[in-house]
Amino acid sequence: MSEVLHSNPLRDAQDRRLPRIAGPCVLVIFGVTGDLSRKKLMPAVYDLANRGLLPPGFGLVGFARRDWADQDFAQQVHDAVKENARTPFREEVWRQLLQGIRFVPGDLGDDAAFQRLRQTIVELDEVRGTGGNHAYYLSIPPGLFDDVLGQLRRHGLVDEIGGSWKRVIIEKPFGHNLASARELNGILSTTFPSRSVFRIDHYLGKETVQNLLALRFANQMFEPIWNNHYVSNVQITMAEDIGIGGRAGYYDGIGAARDVIQNHLLQLMALTAMEEPTSFDAGQLRLEKQKVLGAARTPKDLSAHTARGQYTAGWQGGRKVAGYLEEEGIAPTSITETYAAIRVDIDNRRWAGVPFYLRAAKRMPRRVTEVALEFKRAPHLPFTDTDTEELGKNALVMRIQPDEGITMRFGAKVPGTSMEIREVSMDFAYGGSFTESSPEAYERLILDVLLGDPPLFPQHEEVELAWQILDPVLDHWASLDAQPEPYAAGSWGPQSGSDMLARDGFVWRRP
Ligand code: BG6
Repeated sequence: MSEVLHSNPLRDAQDRRLPRIAGPCVLVIFGVTGDLSRKKLMPAVYDLANRGLLPPGFGLVGFARRDWADQDFAQQVHDAVKENARTPFREEVWRQLLQGIRFVPGDLGDDAAFQRLRQTIVELDEVRGTGGNHAYYLSIPPGLFDDVLGQLRRHGLVDEIGGSWKRVIIEKPFGHNLASARELNGILSTTFPSRSVFRIDHYLGKETVQNLLALRFANQMFEPIWNNHYVSNVQITMAEDIGIGGRAGYYDGIGAARDVIQNHLLQLMALTAMEEPTSFDAGQLRLEKQKVLGAARTPKDLSAHTARGQYTAGWQGGRKVAGYLEEEGIAPTSITETYAAIRVDIDNRRWAGVPFYLRAAKRMPRRVTEVALEFKRAPHLPFTDTDTEELGKNALVMRIQPDEGITMRFGAKVPGTSMEIREVSMDFAYGGSFTESSPEAYERLILDVLLGDPPLFPQHEEVELAWQILDPVLDHWASLDAQPEPYAAGSWGPQSGSDMLARDGFVWRRP
């Protein structure tokens, strides 16, 4: 009988519409004085609280090398929330959150500090009823993970006693190549089983990225054309108008390919190209992503099928901006790329012969991330050449940000007495169809960690596969030991980027 009840589809459907609220727990953030914490994590925690998605039994603990008391840290959280939260500030929500805010000053190598951390968490468990459930957010360089994990182990902070859970959250970069990614995974697995490791790729928390799955698998009309019979090439662009700002320390030596192609762009590619999972549970979703990443590779001739560039001084938004080598903290001889483009081929029946072009760059004319499927020309055009001069390629463009939505481009007759065909577009815009505004990626991801809901978090296997695709490119570029091709800030990148597509008979879309 209980089984029958359990599988009642109507009841399940209703349950799925109820808001998912986290259970009692403590979120400990290491590296809480960093940019990420101020701009994204603390505001996301507040936004979740404001949306009623955090339980009354919630604690937020900051750990850092600052001489702060709880009130000082609370003030920092307050300022970060006021400055960066998505939802309006409400005094009663803040007061509730404030009761669970604590700060532990100290160094990662300091035993006494971890002893204090332990006491703080135990106290929170008692007074806030957080139930011994702890998530540790390592917003610190990966080189320090080993120290923190060792401390957590030694201070008894990772044991899942009495049905409680312990989870760890890490941010990219997940290594700088395949070998270091494996090493990093080895370090994590000394302390946490893989089910307890939550790797954040914040692109997977974006609504528009999840909508890729809805578009593909909730509709009938796209699937028949989603293959090499109809698609000629796929272009995945992540263009940013910003330079590296104050992030020289992180970015230099990393570059565009490691920074975002290895993770965000290859994840977008996997979601675009994978087969339909049998369900959206983590296991099935990961399986399909792994299959398609495992079938993906870069072509052999990497000089012809990759491009890299570095921005020089230029004009952007009517303002003169510095070149990469003039940015603060960058060595004048740096060969780090700020533009990276690669071609990826997928060896399976669906995609054989369809190049996937991935490009990511800083200091482009505008900020835009999109996935565009370009379709083949109709096999026969019963028009004169001049009729179709203005006919572009049919395309389906998933606009990830900032102007979230989907565009379909196709040819239509220009009104008049002659048969002239011009490219037009049909648009779906999130803002026009839904009244709800999209939550920030970090709201969704932090909530999912606290709920222990894993589908949006890549596992180590996916990370490895992504490095397997990228490593040959990085090795090739390193072997050149040369300056990337310069491009002016505010332009669409170096000539080699355009040449790379021209060789295959394609042109980058102007998003
Ligand atoms: C991060 C990269 O992962 O994504 C940054 O490290 C980049 O270099 C950022 O600026 C962009 O994120 P978003 O969400 O603004 O596209």
